Amino acid sequence: MAHEATATIGETLGAATGGEIATRIKSVAQVMFCNGCCCGRTDRGYPAVPVERIKAIWKAEKLNRGVQLTISGCLGPCDLANVAVIVTAETTTWLGLIEGDGDYDALVDWARRIRRGEGSTAIPDRLASRRFDRFASAKAIEPDEAVVK
Ligand code: FES
Repeated sequence: MAHEATATIGETLGAATGGEIATRIKSVAQVMFCNGCCCGRTDRGYPAVPVERIKAIWKAEKLNRGVQLTISGCLGPCDLANVAVIVTAETTTWLGLIEGDGDYDALVDWARRIRRGEGSTAIPDRLASRRFDRFASAKAIEPDEAVVK
């Protein structure tokens, strides 16, 4: 089965590297643009996600060498559609209420700067107010008495 084959490859690589595995495919950052059940669904009243335009820019300018592009299904916090996530070695940044070419262009320009090696991975100022905390503390979750027996 495919799952078993993957585990075997992982175990083989782990043994070859002393118990750790590593990817050769490293970028400075990864951006995930949600295009799921709400984000981008103009028929449901949400702003468009310019998926084809973004993908064309990434391909033409080889931006994946700096920033891995992912167009994703629902990332979860639909109440803040449109959503994007930026992941770097230092941090993960969730952005919500992204709307319009200006917001998406700011992220394209951010990726271009990283691709050119122009320093910081800090998110564009334009989007600073759109950051949000995605996760609750595990301590905030009450045990479900119906499950705990
Ligand atoms: S569809 Fe984007 S967060 Fe759910």
